[in-house]
Amino acid sequence: MVQVTHIEHEAIPHGQRAPACTMVIFGAAGDLTKRLLIPALYNLARTDLLPENFALIGVDRLEMTNEAFRQHLDDAVRAFASDKHYSQALDETHWGELLQRISYLPGDFGAAETYQHLQERLTQESVEHGTGDNAVFYLAVAARFFGGIVDQLGAAGLVTEAPGRWRRVVVEKPFGHDVESAKALNAQLRRNLAEPQIYRMDHFLGKETVQNIMLMRFANSIFEPLWNRDHIDHVQITVAETVGVESRAGFYETTGALRDMVPNHVFQLLALTAMEPPASFSADAIRNEKTKVLNAVHPVNAATDTVRGQYNVGQHDGHLHNGYREEAGVAALSMTETYVGMKLGVDNWRWSGVPFYLRTGKAMAKRCSEILIQFKRPPLSLFRDTATEALTPNALVLKLQPDEGAALMFGAKIPGPNISIGQVHMDFHYKDYFQNAPSTGYETLIYDCMIGDATLFQRSDSVIAGWRIVQPLLDFWADADAKAPLASYPAGSDGPAEADALLQDSGRSWKRLV
Ligand code: BG6
Repeated sequence: MVQVTHIEHEAIPHGQRAPACTMVIFGAAGDLTKRLLIPALYNLARTDLLPENFALIGVDRLEMTNEAFRQHLDDAVRAFASDKHYSQALDETHWGELLQRISYLPGDFGAAETYQHLQERLTQESVEHGTGDNAVFYLAVAARFFGGIVDQLGAAGLVTEAPGRWRRVVVEKPFGHDVESAKALNAQLRRNLAEPQIYRMDHFLGKETVQNIMLMRFANSIFEPLWNRDHIDHVQITVAETVGVESRAGFYETTGALRDMVPNHVFQLLALTAMEPPASFSADAIRNEKTKVLNAVHPVNAATDTVRGQYNVGQHDGHLHNGYREEAGVAALSMTETYVGMKLGVDNWRWSGVPFYLRTGKAMAKRCSEILIQFKRPPLSLFRDTATEALTPNALVLKLQPDEGAALMFGAKIPGPNISIGQVHMDFHYKDYFQNAPSTGYETLIYDCMIGDATLFQRSDSVIAGWRIVQPLLDFWADADAKAPLASYPAGSDGPAEADALLQDSGRSWKRLV
């Protein structure tokens, strides 16, 4: 491997404006740019976190003038203005100022001349907008372009760092499609980039409630003493969506729910829930602990401990929802899974013997991402008429979205002459305590990249560890001889009945979505 020199740059404290830089978005004419990246940059501008000296260059294959590109973004921002991403009237001053700093460069991602033009444009921006020499290259493109773009950036000398000049590359998911391809992509990126220059994006980590998992655990003293195999019966991690495949069949047919959600989003939640306290809050200390958890996951038996499912026609909110195979662009006999359920174990001192049940799916009954920590039952019942098994165990639910907060479930006496116990909830809602700034989730991550804080980005070892866990499932499902079943579930339901069996043997059950 070629030795790439990375220069340590001074860390900028959180909350301060990011330092002067140019951001280059590859895939600027695409959906991600207009739906999430531009709104995020606008929100950063509005909250005075975007660099004072900033410029954005959009690169894409489409021929377009600067004016046409700005118009395209302006239309999009106005069309989304009532979205949750804004929820306030568009601040024309900030938006107008940002728009002036945006330009467009048409070019083929594979052509060397695109990068020569980019080099010229970066110099021009540096003069016009005082952006200096720092640059973020954001790859908002299909995964097949990642390696080639970075090779070209390298060949053109665009990612070479020097004192006073940082160069960072943000890579969207999917990072590879199995262990081997993820390793190959890493190796390809590392030909031109040092690991600290690579910011592997997992937008779940930009969500406040996801970051709160660590705070909840390590900034309070009441949870951590109970956070282990002595007190916890099992953990359930749910990422359920109501939307189906929508217009993304081209991507989804070859990706499926497992690759799309599990090694990245769902495993990040697993790692944050199960990690040991880090030695400090530095990026590497946290990422070391998260990777250790993933490395401790026991090899999954795909045949017995996983369920894949696909939605068929069903009802949602009184509307008929297509089955997956009827969706536009989906093969009539598609075997792509839209649901994954799995049981796994973390082989370490803290979690030995505690099952973790994970599930994610599209077209389900409710949009709901949450983590359920189910505690053990009390050792004996003091209440004459109530057997221990009849006592509902305590549970803590970390609610990530859309209902943001946490709930603690415990038993309380039902008023009356008898001693009988009812389950009650102690509920915390973010909105009751904190003003929720409109956000796409990308603000934090783009800002962190600009200030050089990689804590919320995936390191290569953690990406590989994630793929390693799901590899047996990929192999088993792809093996025609193994005839791995594809369960079906009605759109608008809690998922396939087969997934219940993952828990039932041990007398457990999934938390209902509705
Ligand atoms: C993306 C997946 O990474 O995350 C999508 O590709 C999924 O399929 C999305 O819908 C979920 O993200 P969020 O923020 O809407 O929960």
